[in-house]
Amino acid sequence: MQLKVLFDQETVHRKIKDMARQIEDYYRGKTDSICAICILKGSVHFFSELVLNINMNVNYSFVHVSSYAGTESTGRIRVKSWVDEALQGKYVLVVEDIVDTGNTLRYILSYLRKYKPADLKIAALIEKEKYQHGVPIDFVGFRVGDVFLVGYGLDYEEKYRNLPYIGYLESTTPHL
Ligand code: IMP
Ligand code: MG
Repeated sequence: MQLKVLFDQETVHRKIKDMARQIEDYYRGKTDSICAICILKGSVHFFSELVLNINMNVNYSFVHVSSYAGTESTGRIRVKSWVDEALQGKYVLVVEDIVDTGNTLRYILSYLRKYKPADLKIAALIEKEKYQHGVPIDFVGFRVGDVFLVGYGLDYEEKYRNLPYIGYLESTTPHL
């Protein structure tokens, strides 16, 4: 299958640096420490590049969930591993690769709120505009239409995660 580049590596690097500046600006004067939660597996590269660019104390947490079969959300969220530290009173930043239907984030956020963090914010590298998913994303990198993306952590049936750019499969018609 033919792969097409949508955002090349340089564009992604620049965007993530930009997001890191916005995130620092938001926390300035509020706290000098945050707890960043990486939603595995897709966020692995976005997360690591983002936190390397945030000049604050950053604790790491990892949550592993899945809901996709091929290019479709199954709507059922499977939790494979969960946060292993206390979040009460903490400034929590959830780091997600891509928001499509919003089901995954809605599920994760509803649980995280029960821990009573002082503040809960969301950073997503990509937001799809196909749905009114109703989850307000505080820091968004790219907005795209109805297209299935791969690379930079995003997979199609576990393939293409390690592409150093964000692309799409030519067979999936892009409506960008
Ligand atoms: P949602 O629950 O429908 O918002 O989908 C969120 C999760 O599905 C993301 O964290 C991704 O792991 C995966 N996902 C959604 N859209 C895409 C895509 O275009 N490419 C690869 N993975 C995707
Ligand atoms: Mg994901």
